[in-house]
Amino acid sequence: MDTELRELEQKRRELGSGGGADRIAKQHQQGKLTAWERIQRLTDEGSFLEFDEFVRCRSGCFGLDHQVIPKDGVITGVGTIGGRRVALYSQDFTVLGGSLGEMHAHKIVKVMDLAMKLGIPFIGLNDSGGARIQEGIDSLYGYGEIFYRNTRASGVIPQIAVNLGPTAGGAVYSPAIMDFVIMSEQATMYITGPNVVKAVMGEEVSHAELGGGAVHNQESGVAHFLADSDETAIQTARRLLSFLPDNYLQEPPRLESIAPASDPALRALLPTDHSKSYDVHAVIEQIVDGGDFMEVQSLFARNIVVGFGRIAGRVVGLIANQARHLAGVLDINSADKAARFVRFCDSFNIPLLTLTDCPGYLPGIQQEHGGVIRHGAKLLFAYSEATVPKVTLILRKAYGGAYIAMCSRPLGADMVFAYPTAEIAVMGAEGAAEIIFKKEIASAGDPDAARLEKIREYQEQFYNPYRAAERGFVDAVIDPADTRPTIARALEMLRSKSENPPEKRHGNIPL
Ligand code: HXC
Repeated sequence: MDTELRELEQKRRELGSGGGADRIAKQHQQGKLTAWERIQRLTDEGSFLEFDEFVRCRSGCFGLDHQVIPKDGVITGVGTIGGRRVALYSQDFTVLGGSLGEMHAHKIVKVMDLAMKLGIPFIGLNDSGGARIQEGIDSLYGYGEIFYRNTRASGVIPQIAVNLGPTAGGAVYSPAIMDFVIMSEQATMYITGPNVVKAVMGEEVSHAELGGGAVHNQESGVAHFLADSDETAIQTARRLLSFLPDNYLQEPPRLESIAPASDPALRALLPTDHSKSYDVHAVIEQIVDGGDFMEVQSLFARNIVVGFGRIAGRVVGLIANQARHLAGVLDINSADKAARFVRFCDSFNIPLLTLTDCPGYLPGIQQEHGGVIRHGAKLLFAYSEATVPKVTLILRKAYGGAYIAMCSRPLGADMVFAYPTAEIAVMGAEGAAEIIFKKEIASAGDPDAARLEKIREYQEQFYNPYRAAERGFVDAVIDPADTRPTIARALEMLRSKSENPPEKRHGNIPL
């Protein structure tokens, strides 16, 4: 037995050293952790059970059969995070650049299948040069199998991609199908690398310019979180998981909490001048327990804020117009961002709390030609389709299409509250007066005075929540001080909501 145990230990040591000391040193010099160090930081101490450490590459092409390829460049298994099980893989860049070959893919597929069987979240720690070029079609086939499983698992178990190095070529699409993409500053994501861009387009571009964390968090909207290091990226994944259930049949974990009390501080948060902007984060932080708000896509489409918080210990998904950016208008990117978030929450039993202060859609040729109709439709679709409890609070402006789109009663909001400062109208008073009183204003002795008078008339009529409340479109007009207890009661009341959508294969969201 001693001999056999020594043999096992020896094999483990060889495999455990990845691509060797030099490559590990290079990895560290680049500010990156090794695949194993990442798992140690992600999972609770001593909880990780590794599978398939002896799996070997079967390809004989381009000398692969003469090389030791430890663990085929990926560690897979199940560990716990805060006591909850997660299935995961961690790619080893020191082994053939973390590239994905046939057996590498098999290992990932196996752990994904297990995650589905167990109904537990799936986390991918990515650091890879993409399809293993030497293995050709076997690598491509492997990616196909992973994409298929990512798609089948979507809405069944939460899937989180943590990208900590290159994620090139085929390596980008599994994260893209998953629910959340966390990128460290060392991470890059692109389909075709700088060398291909130069060859085909004649353009010189760096890896980071092409697809660094800043690009995907601010510009493309591919990523949801940007972290300054491996450590922070991994901490972000752990925190994110604390808001999510293990699978679609479960509720997110509820924390103990004391009953929310009224808080007059909320009365002072919105400026009295309706044209002044403010930071909606301050409002959100007053509403959620302990001011603990985990914002998703904080750098992308900043005119809308989405993220997770808790009210009376219960997880909610918040969607709020951000008056500070573009006056909180809806546009192509904000509609995409909010719609995807709404659908995620709806998949995983997370009630929606919408905070409305939106003057409408962003006008202009760029938006129209860019497809604001198609993109804006996603938000209407996502809210209408969602069957989780939907609570809406109108803070200030709810004009025109924005009134409808921001989870209004006709889109199925279960409870709609409004502050006394709410303005629920077809459009802003200035524009409205110009259109409906055009003739009166033009023929008046003093057109400017007439215009102001008509604007005031329109404001008096519609710049309040009462017209909507008279029709029952708003269920209650509330003192801002009572926001937390009111929303907590609404969520408690809606706890048992059950709604069955009409029978169908699936809807056809405008993509
Ligand atoms: C095999 C690879 C590899 C790959 C890197 N390596 N990528 N081996 N297949 N795809 C190996 C390198 O040969 C090297 O081996 C080691 O990994 C480290 O790579 P370096 O280039 O030295 O590292 P670095 O300078 O940090 O550059 C990393 C990189 C670069 C930017 C990722 O390696 C690169 O551009 N790789 C190719 C990326 C790519 O084009 N992938 C697309 C594949 S096609 P040694 O032995 O020297 O350490 C694809 C299509 C699927 O994915 C499409 C599906 C939709």
